[in-house]
Amino acid sequence: MTISTLNQIELIIENSLTELTVIDDLETLENWRIKYLGRSGTLTQLLRSVSELPLEQRKIVGAAANSAKNELEGKLLQRREDIQSNDLKSNNSDSIDITLPGRRGPIGHFHPSTLVIREISSIFSQMGFQVVDGPEVEWDRYNFEMLNIPKDHPARDMFDTFWLDINREVDGAFTTLLRTHTSPMQARVMETTSPPIRVIIPGKCYRYEATDATHESQFHQIEGLAVDKGITFANLKHTLFEFARQMFGPETRVRFRCDYFPFVEPGVDMSIEWNGKWLEILGAGMVHPNVLRAVGYDPSIYSGFAFGMGPERIAMLKYGINDIRHFLQSDIRFLRQF
Ligand code: DAH
Repeated sequence: MTISTLNQIELIIENSLTELTVIDDLETLENWRIKYLGRSGTLTQLLRSVSELPLEQRKIVGAAANSAKNELEGKLLQRREDIQSNDLKSNNSDSIDITLPGRRGPIGHFHPSTLVIREISSIFSQMGFQVVDGPEVEWDRYNFEMLNIPKDHPARDMFDTFWLDINREVDGAFTTLLRTHTSPMQARVMETTSPPIRVIIPGKCYRYEATDATHESQFHQIEGLAVDKGITFANLKHTLFEFARQMFGPETRVRFRCDYFPFVEPGVDMSIEWNGKWLEILGAGMVHPNVLRAVGYDPSIYSGFAFGMGPERIAMLKYGINDIRHFLQSDIRFLRQF
């Protein structure tokens, strides 16, 4: 009896464990538990019958049956955990619904300054102006000297300049600086090409000044220049009228007033009527004879007009931005709106 009961236990262990290795779902596992460890399970029955055995056998068989029970229960737990963690993994991959539309990553977009520069450039391009680029590190010569602003000219006070250390020793005129306006490109373009000239030059400018809601030490300008035989102030007015109408709407009213810039004569500023107020948007004028002479043009043959405007100021008007410092603060809440 002892031998055969012990054999039976061996057999139960062997069979149950063989069955267990291929079970991979919880339902079959539960059936397996009922079959061997349930109330009328094979091992449970056997354990129960141990009490009927004579004392000595009872000890041996009882111990063997109990350790079998522990072993099977241990394996059962183990298997249940394995199945559950496998289920989790396969559930995870099931949860990817490949029929759903993909989520888009955030797409970049243009900065408001760039948007306005592009819009202005496109208006002037359609009027036959070529878009040209120029250096931000400039010589005194182009930024001031050739624009009829010699050393010690009081107009230099208009421009709070960032002076650079490089090349200082060469010659005053070659002193380097961060350009304070895009006007030096007037001289550069005229020097390297010959009329007829119609260009606009968008670019960054720098001024060494305290910042506030309407002043930044870094900003953009768009310079315009037209030079040919017989260019008059009427051409300037027409071009800028046309620009204002395209930029701000066909009903836009504009106003010209006298203003002073050393590189133009006469010089003006232009305002547009915006929400019932006159707002100055650019400076302009007829290219000064001294500027034409400086680039080797004969002012009795050629004449031209020039203008310069700040795209940030125009963006502030168009989009109702109340502080120019927003443009460079990289605040995503501001930038997202464009
Ligand atoms: N460069 C001037 C400034 O920064 C703006 C300007 C005025 C440009 C008149 C011009 C012009 O070309 O004709 O204030």
